[in-house]
Amino acid sequence: MKTVTIGSFKGGTGKTTLGAVLGTALALRGLKTRLIELETSTKPLARFQACREFADLDCPEIDDLMMSGGQPDVQDWQISFRQAKSEAAQDGVDVLVIDTTSVWKPEVIAAHLMADLVITTVTESPIDLYQIMPTNGPSMQAVRPYAQLIDLVRRHAEKSNKTDFEWFLCLNRRSHLRTRVGDSVRDRLRTFTEEANIRLIDGLVDRVGYRNMMETGITPMDDIAGEPVQRSLLAARTEANRLASRVITRLGLKADAPRLVNV
Ligand SMILES: Nc1ncnc2c1ncn2[C@@H]1O[C@H](COP(=O)(O)OP(=O)(O)O)[C@@H](O)[C@H]1O
Ligand SMILES: [Mg+2]
Repeated sequence: MKTVTIGSFKGGTGKTTLGAVLGTALALRGLKTRLIELETSTKPLARFQACREFADLDCPEIDDLMMSGGQPDVQDWQISFRQAKSEAAQDGVDVLVIDTTSVWKPEVIAAHLMADLVITTVTESPIDLYQIMPTNGPSMQAVRPYAQLIDLVRRHAEKSNKTDFEWFLCLNRRSHLRTRVGDSVRDRLRTFTEEANIRLIDGLVDRVGYRNMMETGITPMDDIAGEPVQRSLLAARTEANRLASRVITRLGLKADAPRLVNV
């Protein structure tokens, strides 16, 4: 069983949306997929799952991890994740996907430490760069840039001999149009990822169709009877399947060919 953690210290980079799309695409490729959400106050993924189940659509399993009492630290969360992992393995789960929140918190750090693959989402905005890497602009510098977490997780992976550990930096919510600011962010990320030995990949394009996905449960992989198949839907489907294929290949999993759901 493999664990994928989705992270970034910035809200709105599309972690949860990407988690739902990736989890569904993996499930539709015949992989038993379980998502753990750390956003336990609003539980967007549980809502997504409820909508899909109501419409009788294939869905990844959704779970959350609650800690009762005290102030759990990173070690406490690691124990809790280890337990969740062994339960998932016992249940025959192939992929565990952990959707984190956008803060430097013990559970978020622990989720990164548990991963075989981390997917960090970043949008084409300079503000996102300041959250990730150390910069010269003092006023824009994040107190704890994500780069610190990357260092910490890498050191941990080396110490525990996790040789096949992988990291994707995922340009997410991309604009359809090529823009100067997008190119500039991409250039700076390219340099950063090369130095940090991280793979820069394309995530999801920013599409209106994703905005109410948590409420409808309908993903680009679903074919809705009677509705014309638009080009943007096909493009979204292609990008979701491409992302799933990348993850499947990286983790060395065996999966079926992409499949559609008829609604
Ligand atoms: N690819 C996308 N296209 C359009 N809207 C998106 C996309 N990804 C996320 N969103 C929207 O952006 C907001 C934040 O997304 P979310 O996935 O919750 O981000 P995060 O989990 O990183 O905070 C939500 O309103 C969501 O619907
Ligand atoms: Mg989220």
